[in-house]
Amino acid sequence: MLDQIQQIARQAALKAGALLRRNFAQPHKITLKGRHDPVTESDLQSQEIIVQTLLQVFPNHHILAEEQGAPNSAKSSQDNCWIIDPLDGTVNFAHGFPMFAVSIAFQQQGAVLYGVVYDPMREELFEAARGRGAWLNRQPIRVSTVRELDQALVATGFPYNVNERLENTIRRFKKLVALAEGVRRPGSAALDLSCLAAGRFDGFWEEGLKPWDTAAAVLIVEEAGGRVSNFGGGPFDLASDNVAASNGLLHRQLLQALQI
Ligand code: IPD
Ligand code: CA
Ligand code: CA
Ligand code: CA
Repeated sequence: MLDQIQQIARQAALKAGALLRRNFAQPHKITLKGRHDPVTESDLQSQEIIVQTLLQVFPNHHILAEEQGAPNSAKSSQDNCWIIDPLDGTVNFAHGFPMFAVSIAFQQQGAVLYGVVYDPMREELFEAARGRGAWLNRQPIRVSTVRELDQALVATGFPYNVNERLENTIRRFKKLVALAEGVRRPGSAALDLSCLAAGRFDGFWEEGLKPWDTAAAVLIVEEAGGRVSNFGGGPFDLASDNVAASNGLLHRQLLQALQI
């Protein structure tokens, strides 16, 4: 079954990614879900393509997707559930900054078994299957071997309700700017984590993420040999409000830096 899951999910990600690539240069119709949370018609079209592609083959499966309406994270604990971010990095997309992705994960009995993150502008398809490994365009990937935070390139993002969490967000950001070699804020959590899995980043942290931001990419990091936890070092699960991820070697240093 996992082979079929992989094949259909990959197909859905490529189809939705092709749509986003086509729409990228066109003017966008934008509505606002919140002060920092826009949605374009491409988010909705991408979601439609993904859901249709999956349900055609698996009509009885559950769907948890960002643009479905009221977020219902309880659903993510249902069996045979697809967790979908049809466009991760909507702000980038809407501004013509080519850093965004499609994210699709398949969950069974509380565990994500397969995840794919597709960057349509670079045509990079990151994926992982539990226990089988992680790949970028079908080549195995591995996290970096950087051991010290002061030699690390780390990435982060700011939550959409950043104004409510501004103090802590800035305090952590300041600490990492001082301690790491470099800090980036690219704007797509799923891609940031996938880049960590491929050894391009050495660490990542963010708070306020939703299951569709992390479901696929966390599995990709873990299968590439990385470590994922919450800020306190406890196990990360999809309901966790915060995530700290690294190549494993500098996890302790990253967690220490996140304590404020
Ligand atoms: C957002 C992106 C961004 C992160 C936000 C997410 P969206 O997702 O992943 O990098 O900082 O917290 O909500 O809304 O563009 O799918
Ligand atoms: Ca959004
Ligand atoms: Ca997202
Ligand atoms: Ca999204």
